[in-house]
Amino acid sequence: MTDAGSPWLGNFLTEKIGIPLTKSGSKSTGSRATSKKLKQTKPSSKKLVGKSAAAVATKKPKTVRLPGHIYDYPKYYDLIFGSDCQAEMDFLQDCFACFADRKVKKVFEPACGTGRLMVRFAKLGYQISGNDLNEKAIDFCNRRLEKYGFPPSAVVADMCDFQLKKPVDAAFNTINSFRHLEKPELAAAHMRCMADAVAPGGLYVLGLHLSPATDADVVEETWTAARGNLKIRSKMWLVDRLPAQRLETYRMKYDVTKPNGREVLEDQFNFLTYDVKQVLALIASEPRWEIAAVFDFAYDIQTPIVLDEKTEDVVFVLRRTK
Ligand SMILES: C[S@@+](CC[C@H](N)C(=O)[O-])C[C@H]1O[C@@H](n2cnc3c(N)ncnc32)[C@H](O)[C@@H]1O
Repeated sequence: MTDAGSPWLGNFLTEKIGIPLTKSGSKSTGSRATSKKLKQTKPSSKKLVGKSAAAVATKKPKTVRLPGHIYDYPKYYDLIFGSDCQAEMDFLQDCFACFADRKVKKVFEPACGTGRLMVRFAKLGYQISGNDLNEKAIDFCNRRLEKYGFPPSAVVADMCDFQLKKPVDAAFNTINSFRHLEKPELAAAHMRCMADAVAPGGLYVLGLHLSPATDADVVEETWTAARGNLKIRSKMWLVDRLPAQRLETYRMKYDVTKPNGREVLEDQFNFLTYDVKQVLALIASEPRWEIAAVFDFAYDIQTPIVLDEKTEDVVFVLRRTK
């Protein structure tokens, strides 16, 4: 196993500050930053009269501070985090094949966000559904599903208080979203809802970073991504640890460059922390889950891990008991 990686995404997608990762896989669709817009924002020759060349050269694009939260900008989130999903997709399907005691056709993602994984599963022929607290993310997710001819099957709901009409064969929650539940009792409620949502023999694949006994010092990470003329640099850093409350506070910044200016958004959120004992106790609190296998964020189905107090990132393959 490599070092701790991102508190959010893990090693396969991220790298530490100073070596920003450029997502070269992004497609050049969807961006409205056309060359036409570029021309519109150029100062006209009339405006240049009387200004020195130096003044023109140093003219900075306008910076707009975006209001709201990072999840309120699904297009930006999806550009940064939505293009490199192959490792997760392969791994999840390997889990379905190796550990489910039923054929997996219907899958569900709690806290699905923009549905970066849902849409890929839909394209592979799975029946998909998801929920998320954020209306804008759900709207983005459903519009994309419809664009590809799939039903808009994502709904606004709280992952610790929801019910599905019919149970699914498998569910997944891979990149720490679960740690947004800031209290152990909310996490326990989530495990109960998920046990109701998954049919016997089905799976819940749950990935999160643990707080190991040895101090992991991953405190700051950056990503960059570009599509057409839209460029985003995203930075996330740890600002506080409150061990008594088991909370870590992170700040995240989007720095968006468009032909007609710059946008900046800063947001803050908490993650509930887990050590190995705490996460095992949580799983045991819902007897309808058994641990079928344990992996790390390398997402290598050939390499299960053994949990110990040094484990930093973990993916539980939980099976719903019959
Ligand atoms: C890091 S994003 C992950 C989105 C998606 N699962 C993915 O892999 O790209 C975390 C998501 O959790 C959602 N979220 C946070 N708390 C939630 C809750 N209590 N119920 C449902 N969704 C929640 C946020 O709105 C956000 O979309």
